[in-house]
Amino acid sequence: MRTQVVIIGGGPSGLLLSQLLHRDGIDTVMLERQSREYVLSRIRAGVLENGTVEMLRQAGVADRLDAESFVHSGTYLSARNQGFRIDFDALIGRSVTVYGQTEVTRDLYAARDAMDGKIIHGVEAVTLHDLKTEAPFVTYTKDGTEHRIDCDYVAGCDGFHGVSRKAIPASILKEVERVYPFGWLGVLSETKPVSEELIYAHHERGFALCSMRNDSLSRYYIQAPVDDPIEKWSDDAFWDELKRRIPEDAADRLETGPSIEKSIAPLRSFVAEPMRWGRLFLVGDAAHIVPPTGAKGLNLAVSDVYYLWSGLREAYQGDAATLDQYSDRALARVWKAIRFSWWFTTLMHRFPEQSEFDRRIQEAELDVLETSKAAQTVLAENYVGLPY
Ligand code: APR
Ligand code: PHB
Repeated sequence: MRTQVVIIGGGPSGLLLSQLLHRDGIDTVMLERQSREYVLSRIRAGVLENGTVEMLRQAGVADRLDAESFVHSGTYLSARNQGFRIDFDALIGRSVTVYGQTEVTRDLYAARDAMDGKIIHGVEAVTLHDLKTEAPFVTYTKDGTEHRIDCDYVAGCDGFHGVSRKAIPASILKEVERVYPFGWLGVLSETKPVSEELIYAHHERGFALCSMRNDSLSRYYIQAPVDDPIEKWSDDAFWDELKRRIPEDAADRLETGPSIEKSIAPLRSFVAEPMRWGRLFLVGDAAHIVPPTGAKGLNLAVSDVYYLWSGLREAYQGDAATLDQYSDRALARVWKAIRFSWWFTTLMHRFPEQSEFDRRIQEAELDVLETSKAAQTVLAENYVGLPY
């Protein structure tokens, strides 16, 4: 088989890239290890930057998003059980859009189907070859048979645990990482969200977040030890702990109910550089991970896709200059989001070894945020999304 771009991984990065390239007449084949059902069962954050929404519109996959999403013109922060609002719209004239990543992925699959996009699920032993030549190829097995796809370029959209990043020699690839000493215990419940906008709560017992998917589906998180057995957290224990950490008025009106999903996720900041090696380009979680505080994961994947899509489009028109800048342009934006999500995580969480000084600095910084328009503006610019 031959195609122009082999895309490894059928998460949001791979799907969006193949959709955008296809609309420009560039042929792709996507290889995904899991089934579609498995990919669509993953629950991830649901806050979209303007740039992300614009890209989904450009890709022709935003009809349902435009009809069903919620625009949030601000968010609440809370310290010592008292909330205060950061008004994005008043501060910088922009807002965010709340629409679950699972729904984005579902819409992308529907669009790929409608255009007869080539997606091969259930592939194994994906191996990248001859990436430093002009004729790279990818081999994989499916149902016990080996296949080969020749191509011009390979897009590594296969997430943190994928094979693409590992195809770059260790002498070239630099990996920079911070692992945080706690996790997020998340619950999805069919209850009315406690607040119309998100609440990010700092509390001496640990961080908490009130989020949502729609009017009758809520998503809540509390900071918890990453190795806590999930059985330790009955629904009642979760709701009790959440109530202790959020603003009092929110705790009083919190609607509780059975969890329909409950899990603990680790928090990590990670960047792999460069994001290009020969004909291989890393995109999204394959190249970087952010902690979920601030919901930058999907948004960063989409800005990578933007840089790669523009580069490939121009390269196929005979000008490879933009493509050659892919890694530098993507990394410049990645590092700013890494900084923001590290800052927001560090400000809002309780750290095991924290001294009284560290705690007082956190509280003072939250006071600054409550009272300083300048500090709020910096938060708003980063939260709503830096330009591409
Ligand atoms: N071969 C083929 N597919 C693979 C392989 C492999 N060896 N390894 C991983 N994959 C697939 C995974 O099964 C997954 O569906 O690659 C896909 C990667 O998807 P994501 O992990 O979602 O990464 P990405 O598309 O970059 O999305 C970035 O979305 O999933 C979130 O947390 C993520 O918010 C971030 C954003
Ligand atoms: C979510 O809704 O899952 C969510 C929202 C905001 C975050 C992280 C996760 O910062």
